[in-house]
Formats: sequence, structure tokens, C-alpha cells
Amino acid sequence: MHMHKFEKIWLIFGIGALVVFLATIGISAFYLGNKPASCLTTIDPNTVGQKEPFNAPGLHKVEGKDWDYELVFVAQAFAFNPMEVKVPLGAKVRVIATTKDVVHGFEVAGTNINMMLEPGYISEYTTTFNKSGEYLVVCNEYCGAGHHLMSAKIEVEK
Ligand code: CUA
Repeated sequence: MHMHKFEKIWLIFGIGALVVFLATIGISAFYLGNKPASCLTTIDPNTVGQKEPFNAPGLHKVEGKDWDYELVFVAQAFAFNPMEVKVPLGAKVRVIATTKDVVHGFEVAGTNINMMLEPGYISEYTTTFNKSGEYLVVCNEYCGAGHHLMSAKIEVEK
């Protein structure tokens, strides 16, 4: 087959642009690792309920760590466990959360806490509750028919 010189040039240019484009996508996907930023640790989502700390959701006092309490949440369509938890005012809390099934969100309204919970990963965030009152925990990732029902409550008390 005979090709005109210009056709050849354009063909080479086109393929070159495509290669650069695909390489860019590949490299950025590789760097991001397709992992949520707040997730450092992995876990088998099928055995979440049997593993520490997720075998005991709720608030736990801890010693010898950079935080005073660990607040453990397990998300599952369409609820958080615990649904309601009390936290002492001024407590430095490490929120540790994961999901048993699909991707859920974990946003605490009125705070900086906004994590994505992905199956297989543990999401963590350290915060201090300096204002008493009720905080609403909402799922902000669409997770199915009951998504809008999925919420929990953190009560910060004096
Ligand atoms: Cu869980 Cu939306």
C-alpha cells in the first residue's frame, strides 16, 4: 500500500500523541495507587467483625498513644456501628473506620472529618472534639437504596 508523505507524518503524530496520552494516564493511576488518601492499612472485608479493633465498635480509652481514645466504626449497608456514641469534651480521638461491604462515606457534619471507607482498607483520622453537642455522621458516598438512611450520632458531652 502506498501512502502519501503527509499521511504518514500525521499517522505517526497521531500514534505518538496517543502513546503520550496513555502513558500519562498509566503513570498517574500508578502514583495514586487507586487508594483513598486517608487509608494506610488493609483488612479483609469478610472478616472485619472478628478482627481488632472492629470486633468492638465504639469508644475505647487507650494508653501510651498520641491520642486518648479510639473511636471505632464499622460501616455496612445501610448503617454505622455504633449508631450512637458519647465522647467526652476535649478528648483527643483517633477515629478508625472500615466497611464490611461496599464503599461508604464517613463525614462528620461541622468538622473536618470526611473519609471514604473502601472495602479492604482502614481509614483513620485524629481529631479533638472541642465543642459539646451532637454531631451527625453521614454517608456521603452513594451506596445503594438505603444510602439516605445511613447515619450515626456522636454526642460530645461535658
Ligand atoms: Cu453508605 Cu451511602
